Amino acid sequence: GKVGVLFGGRSAERDVSIMSGTGVLQALQSQGIDAHPFDPGQRSLAELAAEKFDRVFIALHGRYGEDGTIQGALELLGIPYTGSGVMTSAMAMDKITTKIMWLNAGLPTPRYAVLKPGTDLAAATAQLGLPIAVKPPHEGSSIGFTKVTAAEQMQAAYDKAAALDDEVLAEEFVAGREFTVAVLGTGATARALPIVEIVAPQGEYDYQNKYYTDVTQYFCPPQLPQDIQDEMQRCAVEAYRVLGCEGWGRVDVLLRESDQRPFLLEVNTSPGMTSHSLVPMAARAVGMSYEALCVEILRGARL
Ligand code: DAL
Ligand code: MG
Repeated sequence: GKVGVLFGGRSAERDVSIMSGTGVLQALQSQGIDAHPFDPGQRSLAELAAEKFDRVFIALHGRYGEDGTIQGALELLGIPYTGSGVMTSAMAMDKITTKIMWLNAGLPTPRYAVLKPGTDLAAATAQLGLPIAVKPPHEGSSIGFTKVTAAEQMQAAYDKAAALDDEVLAEEFVAGREFTVAVLGTGATARALPIVEIVAPQGEYDYQNKYYTDVTQYFCPPQLPQDIQDEMQRCAVEAYRVLGCEGWGRVDVLLRESDQRPFLLEVNTSPGMTSHSLVPMAARAVGMSYEALCVEILRGARL
């Protein structure tokens, strides 16, 4: 049947999505699939309906793409789509809701505070202790992120994140190594791919170092004792299941230096598929090509 690849969109990660979607489109076409691009950032839902896609691959990131809204539209149109459903997408797009779900399930995630207009920033800073990661809870790709290392930076960090979101997430900054775990499948059959370790210069895995520079180093599999890798993968799959993720996703994890314990940061329900992206890297480590990965994700499309 006719497959739509949705990319572009209206979020701050539009450019990333264009890179992801261009790759996915080419990969599906190279496998003989009748795939066509569709940009919901430039075209209407009426036009989407008129395309009469049999299935769509969602290669959108962020708001209106990864947050349950396009998923809801596709439900109403009756078009099967890749990845998680409406509620999971909405929960996973909100890093605060995600943490509440994980804490409720006894999963480890850094201590945090929610900052709003009128919050006493000095008190929140003192309560969490420096350094603190300050983020807009509904953005991705490090957009609006600040690592606060001195109390006087808190106001500027808050303002930067608050410009993008109604509430701001402040998290204890867990000192340690940075990893990500790709997960494929749904429910009981969900499985982790090999872990990727991210080593960015000065620990700055920011927007530039995610997509545009070649200074970040990746290790897949990482140099890490097998029992710690097993624990991290188990924890990531559990984190994915607790939120009800479907199809595919990528769980970002920190390994605390002091005790080698994993801490969950977030799950991306529509992860990057760019040439620098990490789900394709993890798939490659088990001999799964980018093309095969795209086909497998598409095969999981459902309503
Ligand atoms: N939010 C970006 C696309 C990622 O997590 O891969
Ligand atoms: Mg993200």
